[in-house]
Amino acid sequence: MKPKIIAGNWKMQGSLQEITNLIREVCSNFDVLNSPSVQVIVFPSFVYLHTVHQLLQNSPVLLGAQNVNEHVAGAYTGEVAASMLKDMRCQFVILGHSERRHVYKESNELVAEKVQRALEVQLTPILCVGELLEDREKGRTEAVIQAQLQAVIDAVGYQAFQQCIIAYEPVWAIGTGLTATPEQAESVQAFIRKLLKQGGTELANKMSILYGGSVKPDNAASFLSVPGIDGVLIGGASLKAQSFVDICKVGIQS
Ligand code: PGA
Repeated sequence: MKPKIIAGNWKMQGSLQEITNLIREVCSNFDVLNSPSVQVIVFPSFVYLHTVHQLLQNSPVLLGAQNVNEHVAGAYTGEVAASMLKDMRCQFVILGHSERRHVYKESNELVAEKVQRALEVQLTPILCVGELLEDREKGRTEAVIQAQLQAVIDAVGYQAFQQCIIAYEPVWAIGTGLTATPEQAESVQAFIRKLLKQGGTELANKMSILYGGSVKPDNAASFLSVPGIDGVLIGGASLKAQSFVDICKVGIQS
């Protein structure tokens, strides 16, 4: 069985000191992090990548970034290129997070360009997809997710999904304390796999699909035990060492 992916998105939170303490405390649970049943990844802010990478030496925890620019390089003040993330030893990058799509108005096409940039330097995109509450209420969940995925398929083709992870994160469940039901998560992952089947059954079956949105130690098991859900993307609960490690433990048991 493939390991459950336990990914902590720290967003724009914490000071250097707090992030250092957090990673030290998390890493003191070496046996949990080193379990073959989980793959733990953390996503600090760009400015802390170097420090976190140093702190993660001799730890099985992998490193990722929260965003990347859509250009290869150039005069784009304030932006960060995929090759730079590679230089900083990132192996993953979160793309199309709902805060990028909805606060920073990133279109499906822009997200697709970013996926392309990441893949060019062998960074694994964690491509986030998910619907607004209004979309769900109007029965548009699948149409929204299909459009989000189709833009990426158009840009990079189906086969590139072999190098991607998808995170289903209903926008209304992020940071709100609300969660999708396990049935909703199961139905969306099945829909995503159905779409990707056009690129081959093996591709669709092998794809890692995560759930994200208000995952906590006490509800993690209900998602990690859903057939077809291969891990969780955690915001708030990843900022507390104990709750993050507790979710990793749930991953080991699931
Ligand atoms: P949350 O965030 O766990 O705080 O809801 C999830 C995310 O933004 O990926």
